[in-house]
Amino acid sequence: MISKEITKWWQKAVFYQIYPRSFADGNGDGIGDLAGMISKLDYLQELGIDAIWLSPHYPSPFVDCGYDVSDYQDVGREYGNLEQFQHFLNLLHQRGMKLVLDLVLNHTSDQHPWFIESRSSRDNPKRDWYVWRDGQTGVPPTNWFSAFGGSAWQYDQNTSSYYYHYFFKEQPDLNWHNPEVKEAMFNVVRFWLDMGVDGFRLDAVGTIFEDEDYPPIPEGMSQEELYRMASRYSQPKGEKTVVAYHDEMFKHQVDRPEVHVLMQELRKVIDEYKDRVLIGETDDIAFYGDGNNELHLNFNFPLMRTRQLTAEHVRQNQVERLSALPPNAWPCNTLGNHDTARVYTAFGDGTHNNEQNKLYLMLLLTLKGTPFLYNGEEIGMSDYFFTDKTRFKDPLSVLYYELEKRVNGSDEPTALLRGALMGRDHNRTPMQWSNSANGGFCPPAVEPWLPVNPDYKAGVNVNDQVSNPDSMINFYRRMLNVRRQNPVLQTGEYKEITTESKDILSYCRSNEGQTLLVVLNMSPEIQRFRLPFKVKQILINTMKNWVHIEDPEPTLQPYQGVIYIAAE
Ligand code: GLC
Ligand code: CA
Repeated sequence: MISKEITKWWQKAVFYQIYPRSFADGNGDGIGDLAGMISKLDYLQELGIDAIWLSPHYPSPFVDCGYDVSDYQDVGREYGNLEQFQHFLNLLHQRGMKLVLDLVLNHTSDQHPWFIESRSSRDNPKRDWYVWRDGQTGVPPTNWFSAFGGSAWQYDQNTSSYYYHYFFKEQPDLNWHNPEVKEAMFNVVRFWLDMGVDGFRLDAVGTIFEDEDYPPIPEGMSQEELYRMASRYSQPKGEKTVVAYHDEMFKHQVDRPEVHVLMQELRKVIDEYKDRVLIGETDDIAFYGDGNNELHLNFNFPLMRTRQLTAEHVRQNQVERLSALPPNAWPCNTLGNHDTARVYTAFGDGTHNNEQNKLYLMLLLTLKGTPFLYNGEEIGMSDYFFTDKTRFKDPLSVLYYELEKRVNGSDEPTALLRGALMGRDHNRTPMQWSNSANGGFCPPAVEPWLPVNPDYKAGVNVNDQVSNPDSMINFYRRMLNVRRQNPVLQTGEYKEITTESKDILSYCRSNEGQTLLVVLNMSPEIQRFRLPFKVKQILINTMKNWVHIEDPEPTLQPYQGVIYIAAE
């Protein structure tokens, strides 16, 4: 008899990303915090998620919205303190939920004591904790760029030298070739694991090492050119030519082989503890290692890097992704996070957004692998493209506003809109809890840290939706419950079903006891579908009716999705 691998909690769980600053404000200062999260534990449990990925909660000068950490072993004062954090964690565990933290290994804040020391003198013991190189009179060491604008090298007058930063200049890269850096960071990892956290989402994991030969990139490559190419498209991230140019431009700065040795070492640290998980912010399958010795999960980003979630796109994505995974590697799917447009906006066609949002949830929760949701999706929150520059928080909003003026010569309103579109403020606005002022996120007289999307007045809020059985949130609750009640959706085999219409995506999930048939009309047209075998029950339907169990050739409405239980 073949003994079956016992499945782990992180293979079965649905993860929910909380962006702490925008989730719930417990002390009424316009900033989300731990007290707020604690007050929403019932909410999270009723929603039906199993695990939380918490975006950075550490002390930070907040240049890159928390991804510039100035102390890895504490909690930002605006969020609370360590004691409160431990309390939050305990309460989650009591309710059977898990908590995964964001771990930023590549860089620290320039206000981190390590960097303050490092920059203080050439012979400071922490000098070599960061990547310092001398340039030649006004010329940086290489012609490399920062992914967040300008040269990757920042001149530091104090010691007449340059430090390297892949992201903003306020985020100097750590020198991971230095064993002291590794030791310090592994201690950080142990600090949180000892407190009981269930794992980490590893930020920008591909950027940890750069090519130490420092080869130049081809002459003539520039940020302006990249921007010029990208601005021809409304969603440039998926465009092949833009991606190719981008990859060429940054090829010496990412995905170095050394990173895999480091990940194997980190995995060993994690494995000293019981049942913890590592999730890579990367789509590179190499980070699974041999399937057992690097990261447990890596995001299938190609699934969401598309303008439209067509049946063809998903089919192809699944074939490619699933066949590329090493044995024992577990897939991981998501459609949005704090860096990208919200599902509702990214894939909504402007007419069927609600139907699409439900359909894409059904897709995400029935594909093989661990799904990640992003807070606010469950009430159909959309991107809010506010253009008041004084309220931009993400420096990328400002960067793109400036690039638009400089490169495309656009006028003020066009440039502002471009900044709003290309920055990441639009998908990080506060959670909308009710239809009272500020969407119930914070007291009426307080200005929330980012403006609240005014559509909270039009039903896009938790309170108005919970009492309506047809609302987005109630569909989320039902669908999450269906997944929980049917383990076949968590661990069953996945098999694509051939359909006559190219716009219908269909697949089975099955185990010894059960087969479910998923049928998704991924198009704005009515589609017919012939059931491939006998079914006995409709498990869930994104629309109230239109499809009946007796009908062997059902007609599906635009963006309708149905899950059937197969007859034995
Ligand atoms: C990751 C984060 C992003 C951040 C960057 C630098 O991509 O998701 O928000 O800006 O890393 O830390
Ligand atoms: Ca607060």
